[in-house]
Amino acid sequence: MISQKSVQEIIEVAKVEDVIQDYVTLKRRGVNMLGLCPFHNEKTPSFTVSPGKNIYKCFGCGKGGNPVQFIMELENFTFPEALRHLAKRYGIELEETQSSIENIEERKHLDSLTIITDYAKEFYADNLFNTGIGKSVGLSYYKERGFREETIKKFGLGFAPAKKDAFTVKAVHDGYSIELLRKLGLTTKYSSDFFRDRVMFTIHNITGKVIAFAGRTLSKEKKIPKYINSPETEIYVKNKVLYGAYFAKNGIRKEDECIIVEGYTDVISLHQGGIENVVASSGTSLTTGQIRLIKRYTPNIKILYDGDAAGKKAALRGLDLVLEQDMNVKVVLLPEGEDPDSYLQNVGAAAFKEFITEKAQDFILFKTDLLLEETKNDPVKKTGLIKDIVASIAKIPDPLKRSVYTKECSRKFEMDETILVNEINKLVGIDIKKKRQKEQVNSPGTHQRLTEELMSLEPSPESGIGQISQKQQKKPSAGNEYQEKDIIRILISGGDKYFDTEETTTVAAYILKNIEDVIDDFDNKEYEAIAKECRERLVDKKPIGEKYFLNHIDPKIQTLAVDLVHSPFEFSENWKAKWEIILTTQPDPDDNYMKDSINALYRFKFKKIIKMCEKNQQRLKEIDSNTDTGKMMKLLKVQQKLIGMRDDLAKKLKTVVLK
Ligand code: UTP
Ligand code: MN
Repeated sequence: MISQKSVQEIIEVAKVEDVIQDYVTLKRRGVNMLGLCPFHNEKTPSFTVSPGKNIYKCFGCGKGGNPVQFIMELENFTFPEALRHLAKRYGIELEETQSSIENIEERKHLDSLTIITDYAKEFYADNLFNTGIGKSVGLSYYKERGFREETIKKFGLGFAPAKKDAFTVKAVHDGYSIELLRKLGLTTKYSSDFFRDRVMFTIHNITGKVIAFAGRTLSKEKKIPKYINSPETEIYVKNKVLYGAYFAKNGIRKEDECIIVEGYTDVISLHQGGIENVVASSGTSLTTGQIRLIKRYTPNIKILYDGDAAGKKAALRGLDLVLEQDMNVKVVLLPEGEDPDSYLQNVGAAAFKEFITEKAQDFILFKTDLLLEETKNDPVKKTGLIKDIVASIAKIPDPLKRSVYTKECSRKFEMDETILVNEINKLVGIDIKKKRQKEQVNSPGTHQRLTEELMSLEPSPESGIGQISQKQQKKPSAGNEYQEKDIIRILISGGDKYFDTEETTTVAAYILKNIEDVIDDFDNKEYEAIAKECRERLVDKKPIGEKYFLNHIDPKIQTLAVDLVHSPFEFSENWKAKWEIILTTQPDPDDNYMKDSINALYRFKFKKIIKMCEKNQQRLKEIDSNTDTGKMMKLLKVQQKLIGMRDDLAKKLKTVVLK
């Protein structure tokens, strides 16, 4: 691990405006700077950088954080990777802690593997461009296929000579270990080259490191496999790699869509034609790991299939996995006999783009149409088909999306929507119950989440689930979101400020002392964790405030802090709506911490007490007054006390708030 001291040093030194200006042009706007957001496509700038707070925030897409987070997000680096990047930029020497010696060894090992693959790439490229046979066979093949020289260089294409051990001999001569060459699959156990007499495609990981190769034969001989690939290694985990992802990531982010094709050459052709948000699944169906990789950049997937019968069948396979990950899937069938590469070379980039935009169909509706066509007038087959579609819809985690599809499909099947809803709810219900059984043990919060999910199912008169849902929907939700958020916002943005003019108590000390009795009762457990962390820091006399939370090691908390600190003062509207309290002024919280804290506290406790009243009331109802008289008396007393507190607070609130 990188030592806490080094982490601190980087955070102190790295200036958000410097780091961001390596990528984005920023213009001054008062105390802030403004530019076009690198994380989503926009024409008017909403990407704000605050040099004073050392954070950025996009009001278009909501992304925000400190310099480390910016690098993580933009380069898709892990936390340590981002730190190393910044350390390099600012010339800071990193201190690694003892416990990570093993990790260092591990990293050195992985580094040496990628050094060798990079060496191999250079070897194959050198053979392509600088040898007679490379030029006459390899290079002319690529050129014939329409690949320009800059494209060939960008994608690291190459040529492996036919000689039995040309690569291995040179690599060993240059000092590379034969064991590692074997491990990488570049050299066989008989010390000859694995890739021979093939044009070579380099496979990069998401950060652009060379991790593997694919070699395509130019021979027409049927017995020779068309492509051979590097084996799976520590640096090449096949189900987590997508060909072209490194070159596509910025395009995917900009377009907010990832195009998926089958072949290496398809990716290269589309790229050359200016369509850069494209990756290849390399001829197999997508894995969960690959889908997650895409999901880091966009929830939208467009899959291009060859326009023959096999292509249509392929379009139906394996996509439920994508739906499960809550991705939006569109499919495009290319004209008969074409693959993306050939079609683009035939019609040109502009017509190609138009085609894949116009012909894109929503996956579920595409599947419905295709199967409907197949099962025309055969009621037995049609039932099977409905089950099939329903299974796909049930995989979608978002209830709203599910209901849209249900409507559309019931229209297409010409059948009653409630029947479909029932079927889907059954499946989703089974799924959720399974998940619940698995997860309940681990985290108590999950139960609540899953219950909410169950409630969100479409209500339907016949299904059991629907009935729960209807009943529960009538219950008012007792969310304390705004009040809790307010308390946390004040803790984060001004915990260290003095609460009183005599400077004896800090805001954090005042608030925490006052919420001590309800600190375990936050509805939002993230907020609760922050409050508790503040309490710990207070006890340890450690600073509490913006600086600490904006650079928090837990990225979730950090993001939350950025949002809270950066968002405009926002609770008054809800207060107005919820409690019919009219705020006469809109004080900036920085103006008066005392007033601000007291107000927030009252509101927070007010809500908590109302909730306690409700709970107590419920308990009272459930009690049998004939047998449990003692208990009932106790509860009644509690109720009285609570109501007293509530009214007291209500009074205070009005006087304080309306003043
Ligand atoms: P294709 O046969 O469509 O190849 O296989 P291609 O990439 O379009 O190549 P050209 O245009 O014929 O030169 C699609 C993908 O399936 C995988 C490769 O990833 C290929 O790009 N594949 C195919 C293999 O891994 N091995 C094979 O033998 C064939
Ligand atoms: Mn092809």
